[in-house]
Amino acid sequence: MVCLGNICRSPLAEGILKSKLNDHSFYVDSAGTANYHVGNKPDIRSIEVASKYGLNISSLKSRQFKVKDFDFFDFIYVMDHSNLKNVLKLARNSDDSNKVSLILNELTTKENLEVPDPYYGGDEGFQTVYKLLDDACNTIARKLNS
Ligand code: 4NP
Repeated sequence: MVCLGNICRSPLAEGILKSKLNDHSFYVDSAGTANYHVGNKPDIRSIEVASKYGLNISSLKSRQFKVKDFDFFDFIYVMDHSNLKNVLKLARNSDDSNKVSLILNELTTKENLEVPDPYYGGDEGFQTVYKLLDDACNTIARKLNS
């Protein structure tokens, strides 16, 4: 799960997807394309919206996406077009780039929609992000669990 800062959207996506997978045969992680917040906990507003739905993401730590991630992960879900561009810039070949997709293209509509960046807005933005990610992760988990 990849966003810009790895403190708002992608830690939420990580927590939500982990909670929906059946067993321990999956490794779910998140990262940011930027290094602004490396080592930091998720934004308090992400921690709070997760907690409202029974998820504890407070011990996650921000890290920056790196080229090696293409070797470790089968699926790389990005939140918006800017993340998509920045991750694809690091792809070494088509095997790498084929792993990358907009997470909201997991929804049936597949309209290249973005998970909006909630950082500069209010709490309601985090609620919207939670709902979008919960829907998308339901689809991802259904595929992976089957
Ligand atoms: P995220 O949100 O990419 O969902 O973690 C942001 C976090 C920090 C900043 C921007 C977006 N920032 O500019 O510091």
